[in-house]
Amino acid sequence: MNRDGVDPALVPARTLYTGARMPAIGLGTFGSDHISAGEMAAAVKGAIRVGYRHLDCASVYGNEDRIGAALREVFDAGPRRDELWVTSKLWNDKHAEADAIASCRKSLADLRLDYLDMYLVHWPFPNFHPPGCSVESRSPDSRPYIHENFMKTWRQLERLVGMGLTRHIGVSNMTIPKLKLLLRDASIQPAVHEMELHPHFQQPELFEFVRANGMEPIGYCPIGSPDRPLRDRTPEDTVDIEDPVIRAIAERLGVHPAVVCVKWAVERGQTPIPLSTKRPNYLANLQCTVTEPLTAADMGAIAGIDRNCRLIKGQVFLWKENQSWEDLWDLDGEIKS
Ligand SMILES: NC(=O)c1ccc[n+]([C@@H]2O[C@H](COP(=O)([O-])OP(=O)(O)OC[C@H]3O[C@@H](n4cnc5c(N)ncnc54)[C@H](OP(=O)(O)O)[C@@H]3O)[C@@H](O)[C@H]2O)c1
Repeated sequence: MNRDGVDPALVPARTLYTGARMPAIGLGTFGSDHISAGEMAAAVKGAIRVGYRHLDCASVYGNEDRIGAALREVFDAGPRRDELWVTSKLWNDKHAEADAIASCRKSLADLRLDYLDMYLVHWPFPNFHPPGCSVESRSPDSRPYIHENFMKTWRQLERLVGMGLTRHIGVSNMTIPKLKLLLRDASIQPAVHEMELHPHFQQPELFEFVRANGMEPIGYCPIGSPDRPLRDRTPEDTVDIEDPVIRAIAERLGVHPAVVCVKWAVERGQTPIPLSTKRPNYLANLQCTVTEPLTAADMGAIAGIDRNCRLIKGQVFLWKENQSWEDLWDLDGEIKS
């Protein structure tokens, strides 16, 4: 294995409905409240150096400005802008018609780019909360999913494509009932759905729905987000990298269990966006996409360890007191009001 990096041409890619090719692994950039913007920007530079060509950014991660400065240096030495796939996301407080385009322009200015490859609506609710607030915190302005309002936001994203500010648009944290409405009413179809996906949370029905409807699934928290903020932890949560099946495969291959999670994700067909700020770790995550695949028995064994364990429950986006987080996820097929 090349210790210095991976040839980006060898890394698998997904073909979107537009024909564009998106690298099938990206670098996550959410510092989970403990990685500084400077550290994240250094990791972005290092990751591109070892062969990453896909970055998952968002305005709410609070580091696009530093990542932009890193990208400026990267482009000076190569690769070119058109060799990199950059995603950013519209945060919940900017869903208003007057705000969405300005927010994309701000991300572009921070990232020092002329265009994005993908711009996502981060959550389907306009509900937001102060950074670092407790999980019980509720905003009095919070409301349920209102399709008419979501479509007003989506129309602004469609305009961004027309303006050449992003090549594609997509969504995140949606459900099948919400996606059905969007697919019915969109003039420009979403090209991806970014959703939580890891061995203990495989979401098979949503995963299949997304693929059957012309979208690529992007998998966030692919390793089970072991360093996620305290507010995103509950006593019921399980730990993917401690699962005996994952550990046994990791031991056989001589890799960290995190690498098995990433390798499984790429082989299953989603695009994982693992975060790491440590060179050996982000390099191992990229290398595993170009080495011998997991066996059919490995894939079958991992399919069997789904625990339906959602880690990012989204409690702070609820709109009523004493409401259960399940209401955000339309578990019985109905959009909750
Ligand atoms: N759309 C959304 O709503 C949404 C929500 C959550 C996350 N995301 C995106 O998804 C990305 C990934 O999720 P995440 O950051 O929460 O969790 P994750 O990628 O599942 O896990 C990241 C953790 O795994 C460790 N790790 C990574 N590779 C490793 C390796 N090879 N060996 C050992 N440890 C390894 C990292 O530590 P080290 O740094 O020490 O390697 C880090 O603590 C985020 O950064 C963000 O871009 C999107």
